[in-house]
Amino acid sequence: MSPSSTGPDLRVSVAGIELKNPIIAASGTFGYGIEFEDIVHLDRLGGLVVKGLSVEPMIGNPPPRMYETAAGMLNAIGLQNIGAQAFLDEKLPALRAIKNVVVFANVFGHTREDYERTIEILNQGEGIAAYELNVSCPNTAQGGIQFGSDARLLDEVVRTAKRVAARPLIVKLSPNVTSIAQMARVAEEAGADAISLVNTFLAMAIDAETRRPRIANVTAGLSGPAIKPIALRMVYEAARAVKVPVIGMGGITTPVDIVEFMLAGARAVEVGTASYFDPVATEKLVDGLTEYCREHRIACLSNLTGGLITD
Ligand SMILES: Cc1cc2nc3c(=O)[nH]c(=O)nc-3n(C[C@H](O)[C@H](O)[C@H](O)COP(=O)(O)O)c2cc1C
Repeated sequence: MSPSSTGPDLRVSVAGIELKNPIIAASGTFGYGIEFEDIVHLDRLGGLVVKGLSVEPMIGNPPPRMYETAAGMLNAIGLQNIGAQAFLDEKLPALRAIKNVVVFANVFGHTREDYERTIEILNQGEGIAAYELNVSCPNTAQGGIQFGSDARLLDEVVRTAKRVAARPLIVKLSPNVTSIAQMARVAEEAGADAISLVNTFLAMAIDAETRRPRIANVTAGLSGPAIKPIALRMVYEAARAVKVPVIGMGGITTPVDIVEFMLAGARAVEVGTASYFDPVATEKLVDGLTEYCREHRIACLSNLTGGLITD
């Protein structure tokens, strides 16, 4: 059958994992996935990344911890989560019961040992496709510098994670760096099977009337359409620097955004803040992307990756 009678082929492959389309719900914006079961057909998404998981449960930062900005959102949730073991016991079985859902587990820690222990716990669970390592996290043993903002710390944490991980390892880069290409290379050389980017940009907002920060933590991470052009530039630079697949994200709200990230070099994309404006955004994007491909006579979406014309 011709592609026009069967519909466009949206399949992509990342780190040896086949996805039915490139749209993945981003970590921290889609709960543990299962909370969205009643409103999103989870099996229609390319995949979903669960909230960042740590060794122990965490209650996160005090409120206020979210604030809407021009075309974006600030958050300092503080990585609130139920802990890796509770995720395996209380959330993963329900996700596994829904057929054909690709689940990625996002992992973070405050020391290398934290990352190691969290992955060891998650290795025991069934139904996780890969790990996504959140390195935008302060290293408490190194005076609070983010793992992902220092080449040596990044190298160490990726090597540690790769050594223990029983599944493919996606390293999610921090955009709060001078050279994203260098950090992408460090992650690749340390063993990353894929990289994803970007995480949120360090930012803040102030209430001039009260002269107080809008977020109790004072600084926070900026996401949403406001960051899209910077994210796109970073995905472009990272994709040119490495051979491993790149998953792009940052401010995606439309099918055209997805096409732009793929042209810049992404194999797949993640969608985060859009789910706050519309909880069904991820599934609508699957429909929208299918329609876009039909209208533009794109038979095989994966051919777009890296297709940017610069001459
Ligand atoms: C409320 C909130 C919580 C987040 N929590 C996590 C997290 O736990 N781990 C992580 O790697 N990224 C986390 N992120 C970052 C997103 O996954 C994504 O990288 C970022 O928001 C950029 O994409 P977007 O503009 O589509 O939201 C969080 C983002 C938001 C808005």
